[in-house]
Amino acid sequence: MATPHIEAEPGDYADVVLMPGDPLRAKYIAETFLEDVVQVNGVRNCLGFTGTYKGHRVSVQASGMGIPSLSIYTNELATIYGVKTIIRVGSCGGMAPDVKLRDVLLASGSTTDSAVVTNTFGHGVHYAPLANFELLDTAYHVAKEQGVDVKVGDIFAADRFYNDELDMKKLADYGVLGTEMESAGLYLLGAKLGFRALSILTVSDLIFGEGKTTSEEREKTFNDMITIALETAIA
Ligand code: HPA
Repeated sequence: MATPHIEAEPGDYADVVLMPGDPLRAKYIAETFLEDVVQVNGVRNCLGFTGTYKGHRVSVQASGMGIPSLSIYTNELATIYGVKTIIRVGSCGGMAPDVKLRDVLLASGSTTDSAVVTNTFGHGVHYAPLANFELLDTAYHVAKEQGVDVKVGDIFAADRFYNDELDMKKLADYGVLGTEMESAGLYLLGAKLGFRALSILTVSDLIFGEGKTTSEEREKTFNDMITIALETAIA
């Protein structure tokens, strides 16, 4: 029972899926953190894997970039493969003054200019896409236990990576911590289709500032984020 975008058989995915944007990140997570790994999807190189973490079945499936691509995979995972929990593990640009490079952020909500969200309601409705609170609460406490100083708040999910017409400063003034391109879509579909959704993000660049991280620093932060996601997934 393959879909247009996923060649897996029913039952190939675990109930819980970690979802990076980048397919090679999906491969890295599977190879580094999971045991007894099998590749369950390779269509368009949008890689998916299932394995175990501390004895619990966990899958990893790449989303690609942006809400339209993420929506395809989350829709099919939830409706065809019965996935119950999707935790995005991605990167974002830092926006709030106290957000630094390599910080780990939990998106409690996701403001967006996405046409996908706007067109779902119309009639002037501005829907507020929110994380599943149970996952958010668990991830926050797991992070604290690990000594990772996470920040929790609003993440702007942009339709365009390059957009010189948007007032990013104003969004930061209204409390937005960072920007990426997926979280609002994930939360919208979680609400619609009934799966639990959370986005955990590492700050890979700063929207209003300069800064560089070494590849070792990026790997350490990325691994911190994945551990938080996996411990949340099996809690
Ligand atoms: N903008 C949008 N998406 C991103 C960014 C950004 O600055 N950084 C990582 N993902």
